[in-house]
Amino acid sequence: MCGIVGAVAQRNIVSVLVEGLRRLEYRGYDSCGVAVMSNGAPKRARSVSRVSDLDAQVRDSHLDGVTGIAHTRWATHGAPVTDNAHPIFSRDALALVHNGIIENYESLREMLRDKGYEFVSQTDTEVIAHLIHSMYRGDLFQSVREAVKQLHGAYAIAVMHKDQPHTVVGARQGSPLVVGVGNGENFLASDALALAGSTDHFAFLEEGDVVEITLDGVKIVDREGVPAVREVRVVAAYGGAVELGPYRHFMQKEIFEQPRAITDTIPQADHFDASIFGENAKQAFDGIDNLLILACGTSYYSGLTAKYWLESIAKIPTQVEIASEYRYRESVPDPKALVVVISQSGETADTLAALKHAQSLGHKHTLAVCNVGTSAMVRQTELSFLTHAGTEIGVASTKAFTTQLVGMFVLAVTLGKMRGFVDAKQETAYLTQLRHLPAALNSVLALEPQIIAWAEDFARKENALFLGRGLHYPIALEGALKLKEISYIHAEAYPAGELKHGPLALVTEAMPVVTVAPNDTLLEKLKSNMQEVRARGGELYVFADAGTRIVSENGIHVIRMPEHYGPLSPILHVVPLQLLAYHTACARGTDVDKPRNLAKSVTVE
Ligand code: G6P
Repeated sequence: MCGIVGAVAQRNIVSVLVEGLRRLEYRGYDSCGVAVMSNGAPKRARSVSRVSDLDAQVRDSHLDGVTGIAHTRWATHGAPVTDNAHPIFSRDALALVHNGIIENYESLREMLRDKGYEFVSQTDTEVIAHLIHSMYRGDLFQSVREAVKQLHGAYAIAVMHKDQPHTVVGARQGSPLVVGVGNGENFLASDALALAGSTDHFAFLEEGDVVEITLDGVKIVDREGVPAVREVRVVAAYGGAVELGPYRHFMQKEIFEQPRAITDTIPQADHFDASIFGENAKQAFDGIDNLLILACGTSYYSGLTAKYWLESIAKIPTQVEIASEYRYRESVPDPKALVVVISQSGETADTLAALKHAQSLGHKHTLAVCNVGTSAMVRQTELSFLTHAGTEIGVASTKAFTTQLVGMFVLAVTLGKMRGFVDAKQETAYLTQLRHLPAALNSVLALEPQIIAWAEDFARKENALFLGRGLHYPIALEGALKLKEISYIHAEAYPAGELKHGPLALVTEAMPVVTVAPNDTLLEKLKSNMQEVRARGGELYVFADAGTRIVSENGIHVIRMPEHYGPLSPILHVVPLQLLAYHTACARGTDVDKPRNLAKSVTVE
């Protein structure tokens, strides 16, 4: 989604800004741009193509300057055309970049038109540029502070004015913005990752903050206008780790990184203890008797999977809800609920808003399962569990999902132990299974050549159905999501028992039916559902555990999985579905890492 980079330095900053955009590319965008102060006025380059095209433009035009702002845009208001690409100018005096959505932009636009401002874009952003310009009286910081009071909605902005050529001002509300503190130079960015290589010292702005960066300083005030100090932290983990290496796409690389990511995520301790989730976790867990899980997209499916573990292992009632639904629904708050937010980025606007909504309703105990330790979600929850997937570049989440599952399994066993449902023997067995998981995953990854052969068939289809039961139903959902988002094949997932209540009407010879078939207690039921498909001529593609005695025959294709892996089986079964989606997308020639219309980090609602 949209990305911001800004800098004030004593050197030509254009290459740092463009490199920052390059690091944010993976989030998804459809246009980009950069502006610098040059000979007393802002000058810009914009592109509706890739950052590499913008780079070529700035080189050809010899754009240079010591103060600048840059942006990747994911269109919300107005098509991805050059006029709508940021930086947006106001009267050739002020340049601004914006992430988020301004909800009252129409009334502000009318007011600014009345003042004589001409609008040249369809963006909501242009009202912010003109609004700040209209309030400018020689102090950009002051005019931004006044202007943001009139904005409703979400924003992170970076802005510069021709009369203060060594200043960039930023503000945030509902969208992230960080300050990068350098040596005689300072930066702003929507994600610290953008500034890897320029600094590793970051201050994370809070909601409502306004910041001014100059060559020698950073000035911050909070939403009340009171000077604020935001702790500068060293975030050294950024930098490398985003190279593609020998892989064709980041998604493929990330699928194959899962054994390592899971190894890094499994807690080191030789027993399950509440302290894994934070200092106050024991006390918090003692006071709860149910869970409310909130998340979006793939992270929501990890919540759905976790519900099975939490209710079967810890016997704790668990509700899982899509964050964008929960935040606007009238719900009944329960002081004995632990609210769990699951998120790769920790910045997803709807999940963050759902968390705040839960807190505003009085929910005291909150836990984030998240891949980014410095994210807003981790900062805003009482407890946290960090997944160590490493930077995930592919828009379609893979290693973040399986590491989230590890985190949620650890939570289920920990609560189960505290509640007296997991004895010492069982605890050791769970820990052993977790520790063997990376090796088991390696044997599943070795199935790739067989999956490539299937992908050739799938690439010619326009629809696919995914079936699973019980603990593996959310895995079928995740498999269908993966296929649709990167190969653009319409895919739906159903609990196999529900087939006869509707989707069976869709089954013909043209409909491939992917079936997740673990060797568990529901196997015989699942086999009956498979017969229902075969009887209608549907073609089955089955990922079957060893021992299921499901064999390839006319209309049934089988890829043999390892022995059933007990409660952790979903973590193994999702991997071939990731590979199937990946290779199908490759065969169809789509932009696997940056599928059309989608973004990695969805920071607008
Ligand atoms: C976007 C991404 C998905 C991700 C979802 C939730 O839709 O494309 O891959 O699952 O956001 O993101 P989060 O960072 O909260 O896990």
